[in-house]
Amino acid sequence: METGVQARAESNAGRHEGRGHVRAAAPAAAKRSTTEFAYDLREALAMRPRSISPKYFYDARGSELFDRICELPEYYPTRTELRILAERANEIAQLAGPRAEIVEFGAGSLRKVRLLLDAFDAPSRFLPIDISGEHLDASAAALRRDYPALDVQPVTADYTQRVLLPAPLATAGQRVGFFPGSTIGNFTPAEALHFLQSAAQVLRGGALLLGADLVKDPAVLHAAYNDAQGVTAAFNLNVLARANRELGTDFDLDGFAHYAFYNAPLARIEMHLVSRRAQRVTLEGEGFDIAEGESLHTENSHKFTVEGLRALAAQAGFRPGPVWTDPERLFSVHWLHAPE
Ligand code: AVJ
Repeated sequence: METGVQARAESNAGRHEGRGHVRAAAPAAAKRSTTEFAYDLREALAMRPRSISPKYFYDARGSELFDRICELPEYYPTRTELRILAERANEIAQLAGPRAEIVEFGAGSLRKVRLLLDAFDAPSRFLPIDISGEHLDASAAALRRDYPALDVQPVTADYTQRVLLPAPLATAGQRVGFFPGSTIGNFTPAEALHFLQSAAQVLRGGALLLGADLVKDPAVLHAAYNDAQGVTAAFNLNVLARANRELGTDFDLDGFAHYAFYNAPLARIEMHLVSRRAQRVTLEGEGFDIAEGESLHTENSHKFTVEGLRALAAQAGFRPGPVWTDPERLFSVHWLHAPE
């Protein structure tokens, strides 16, 4: 398998920095990510239809905008998932058992994992995996302050690709994967299957705690991605703003409209940036013409049914366990056993 989450502890030898931080040197990593962004944006502008990975939303400004999205009255997923996790924390802790090792895919909201750390019986280690090393370092420092007995080892990696995890501690209990926020919805169905297959390997003998947003009234979905304050629009446009900042492109942000809609047959919200007029943009000396009405597809956010998600997990090799939802069935949290 070319990509996927794989535990390859032996390859981590000599790559630890600071307190068990696995990553390449920061300047090289920063340069590589800028180059990759330029490469992917060039490809996006050259292809038809145009599309780019939503991972480019998340520079410092984009992460800040995403945090604001999570507070919006229309954006129900974050608060609904937090409520489910808080209400079910003891039940989840029972399933996890003593000395569990938590592996978070994407070190997003520390608020969420704290709910688990507070409820679990003497969790042994926390391994947050994230592409942004800086974000991880800050999060790890905050967690170490509040959980002095917890071994926190951030892993700087793209968890959609190959991930190098340290070998499980001899004294550890189950390995519990944590993938909240319905981030799985950003994957295509094939990518989601592939991710789950890889996660089932890394977590074998343990489990995955997975948050998945549910299919619902399209009006509720539409509002969640078209908020009245325009924060989601700013978040979407940030990919172009970021290109202007990092790559020196000359995107005119007023020339693009935030366009988000629910594609019912594919059960996903699609986000696009639609050109409001004919325009030309220059990237590294190369000009690209964008016609009026042409779109850059920036994100898919797939919605699931409880049964559909369980079937996908089973296909990936998990044994689906308990599922928790809120009373309105807006959001779901799944316990998926990973067989030995
Ligand atoms: C972080 C991918 C789960 O799809 O709802 C929020 C990102 N995009 N508003 C989502 C997002 C627009 C979010 N995920």
